[in-house]
Amino acid sequence: EKSPTADPVLHDLPEATLKELDRIEKMFELDAAYLRRIVDQFVADFRKGLSKYGEPMAMIPTYVSGVPDGSETGTFLALDLGGTNLRVCEVTLQGNHKFSLRQQKYKVSTELKTGEAKALFDYMADSVDHFLTDRAVDAENEETLHLGFTFSFPVEQSALDKGLLLTWTKGFSAKNAVGNDVVGLLQDAFDRKHLHVKCTALVNDTVGTLMSRAYLSGSCLLGAIFGTGTNGAYVEDVNEIKKLSPEIRKELGDHVTKMIINGEWGAFDNARKVLPVTMFDNKLDRESINPRFQLFEKFISGMYQGEICRNLLLYLVDNGYLFNGYSTAQLNSHYGLDTSVMDAIHAANMNSSSQSIQTRKVLIEQMGFQPNQVSDEDTEIVLWACRTVATRAARLSACAVAAVMEQTKNVGNALDVGVDGSMVQFYPGFEDRLRAALRDLVGGDAEKKVTIGMAKDGSGVGAALGALMAKKQADGKAQ
Ligand code: GLC
Repeated sequence: EKSPTADPVLHDLPEATLKELDRIEKMFELDAAYLRRIVDQFVADFRKGLSKYGEPMAMIPTYVSGVPDGSETGTFLALDLGGTNLRVCEVTLQGNHKFSLRQQKYKVSTELKTGEAKALFDYMADSVDHFLTDRAVDAENEETLHLGFTFSFPVEQSALDKGLLLTWTKGFSAKNAVGNDVVGLLQDAFDRKHLHVKCTALVNDTVGTLMSRAYLSGSCLLGAIFGTGTNGAYVEDVNEIKKLSPEIRKELGDHVTKMIINGEWGAFDNARKVLPVTMFDNKLDRESINPRFQLFEKFISGMYQGEICRNLLLYLVDNGYLFNGYSTAQLNSHYGLDTSVMDAIHAANMNSSSQSIQTRKVLIEQMGFQPNQVSDEDTEIVLWACRTVATRAARLSACAVAAVMEQTKNVGNALDVGVDGSMVQFYPGFEDRLRAALRDLVGGDAEKKVTIGMAKDGSGVGAALGALMAKKQADGKAQ
C-alpha cells in the first residue's frame, strides 16, 4: 500500500528502463516490517551502549542532568563547530522562553579540517578573538567571559567541561586530536592568545538542540540533527545507564535521576546487520575517509545523500539507461553532486511538469550538461533517483525517532522532538516522509502526539545553556 505522500509513478520510459529502475527501487524500499526490524535492532544497540563503554553506538553520558524550562537568564559566549561552519555567538537568555543572539560565521577550510589539530583550535581562538574585537568590549573590562562549546563530534565526557574525542566524523581528520580532551585543546589555544575567555561547558549539537528546544517550548525528550551528519540526544533514566561506575553514581548523588545521553546514532549498524546496504552505498563507504564507520549517517545525512545519488546516476549512465551514456566532469567528480542539488531538483510544491523543467535547469546550470544532452526521459529518471534516495533517508530517520520513543517508554505519550540541520531546513517533504514512516512504526495515534519543532540556533543557545549550567554547578560547589 502506498502512503499518502507517495510520489507520482513513472511513465513514458522504455520497458527495459522501467524494469531496471524497479529492480533498483526494490533495494531502497523499506516496508513497515523492515522498519520494525531496524527499530528493534536500534533499541538493542541503545541498551548495549548504555551498559558498556566502547560500543559503536556510544550512548555518551553528558553529565547534564536536567533540561531547561525557559526561565533561565544570563549572557554567554558560544562557539559552535558543526560540520560545515564555525560560528561564534553571544547569546542572551531573557527568561520567558526568549533569547537574543548576535553571531558571526567563519569558514572552515579543508586544510583546517584535515591538518594539525593545533591549527584548527588556533583558528577557533582567532575567530573568538575577532568576534570580541568586533564587539568592541570595553578594554578596561578584563573580566573573564564564560563560553559554552558546541562540538559536534563523538566525545566521551567525564564532566560537563571535559571529554576525550573518540573519533572524527563528517570529513574531519585533524591530527593529534583523537584521544585528547577537546576543552583542554580549546582552552590552551585561548591561553596562547591571552584571551580572557574560559570554556566552561562542552555540548554536542544534539544536546544543544534538546536544551534549546526545551528552553523554547518548556519540555523536550529528544534533540535530533539531520544535517551534514545525523545524531540524537535524549533524556534517559540514570538507572538505565548501567555503565556508570558506583563512584560516578555516588558523586552524582541520589537526587540526580535523569541524564541526557548523546546517542551518536550515526554509528548505528556499523556491523551491517540490518541496514539495506546497496552497491551505491558500498561505493560511497569504500571511497570515504572513514570506511566501515558511521554507516547509518551515510544513508541519511546531507554530507552523503548527494553522493549516493551520484553513484546511482553513474551506474545508470554506464549501463546505457541515462544521458545516452554520457556524463560530465562535475558528475564524474567525487562528491560532485551536492545534496543541495537534490534539494533544488526536488523543490517543494511543484507539479510534475514544473519539476521536470526545474530538474533540466539544475542539470544544465549546476551539473555541466549541454541542453541537447538532457531528454525528458533523463529528467524523469533523475527525479526518480533523488526521490528514491531521499525517501529511504527520511524513512530511516523515523527509525531513530521511534527507537528513542520505545526506549523511553513514550509511545502514545505527548512528546516534543527538537530538530535542526539542513535536511530538515531545506529538504522538501523530509518531515512528511519521516512522519509517514513513523505511522508505519508506532501507529497514527502515537505519531500524532509527536510534536516536531525546529530548534532554531539550537547549537548557540544550547551552548549558552550549558555554560549557565556550569555556572550553577560552580556556584553550588562554592557554597
Ligand atoms: C556526527 C557527529 C555527532 C553529531 C552529528 C550531527 O554524527 O559524530 O556528534 O551530533 O554528526 O552534527
